[in-house]
Amino acid sequence: MKPIIDPSMFGIWALITGASSGIGEEFARQLAAGGLNLVLVARRKGLMQTLAGRLSSRQKIECLAIQADLSKREDLDALIEKTSHLETGLFISNAGTGDVARFLDRGIDDLGERIHLNATSHLLLTHHFAKKMATRGKGGILLTGAMGAVDGVPYMAAEAATKGFIQALGKSLHSELREYGIHITVLVTTPTETPVFYKLGFTLQNSPVKPLRVEQCVTEALAALAKNQMLVYPGLKFRALRALTPEFLSRKIAAKMLKKNNNIK
Ligand SMILES: NC(=O)c1ccc[n+]([C@@H]2O[C@H](COP(=O)([O-])OP(=O)(O)OC[C@H]3O[C@@H](n4cnc5c(N)ncnc54)[C@H](OP(=O)(O)O)[C@@H]3O)[C@@H](O)[C@H]2O)c1
Repeated sequence: MKPIIDPSMFGIWALITGASSGIGEEFARQLAAGGLNLVLVARRKGLMQTLAGRLSSRQKIECLAIQADLSKREDLDALIEKTSHLETGLFISNAGTGDVARFLDRGIDDLGERIHLNATSHLLLTHHFAKKMATRGKGGILLTGAMGAVDGVPYMAAEAATKGFIQALGKSLHSELREYGIHITVLVTTPTETPVFYKLGFTLQNSPVKPLRVEQCVTEALAALAKNQMLVYPGLKFRALRALTPEFLSRKIAAKMLKKNNNIK
């Protein structure tokens, strides 16, 4: 099968944050299959090294693993420094959290870290890579957001707010970066079977709608980026749900399920 993205589209190197598991790991697999060299970024270096070893031997590509905690400014600066010699044509900004708790039970430091990871790191790395892409006249950027974020998600207020930020960032840059030959797409992630799905207290039994397989989520995201589509909501059933569910109802359902699944009293 012809890969959706190959090195002729944006260049030979892709950098993926949140590449140690779930959606990021699948981006690595699909881009490696297309012949791109990869930089994998997350905190769990062991997992990334294993993945890098597997992909580079199977696909004959170069694959680097860089450990970075993207909630920390010094790690973000070190990542920029360590990758400055590479021509990164594709940037997949995917690292993020998903935790459920009452807003008032969260500490100030915890909220600050969530903002750094889920919003600031996406903004600063997008700025860094887009500048380099603009000088080359081509590039691709994919930002991972979340369905429901812009409508608000009770018990996940910080996550919803920061994913809403990501969506506005992508939509704003979609027109602005076009003149430099840069594609930018927001993956408005619909429920997808990854560790985050289970962390939110969902199981295949208690979830009202079956989550997508990670392969489908990533394939639809890459196809949207290749076409320079502004937003992509993977899965027809989730696009239909979104069209049919009023905003207030989606908040009400999310609140009820998250509270029950996570024993919030
Ligand atoms: N799956 C869903 O249904 C769903 C729905 C909405 C949004 N999303 C979003 O999709 C993205 C990918 O999540 P996933 O579903 O694939 O879950 P996942 O398997 O838990 O992936 C999250 C990734 O983010 C990385 N990460 C977390 N904190 C980090 C930090 N401080 N610094 C660097 N990397 C960090 C993790 O790596 P380390 O732990 O090794 O650092 C991991 O690779 C996230 O942004 C998530 O919010 C997913």
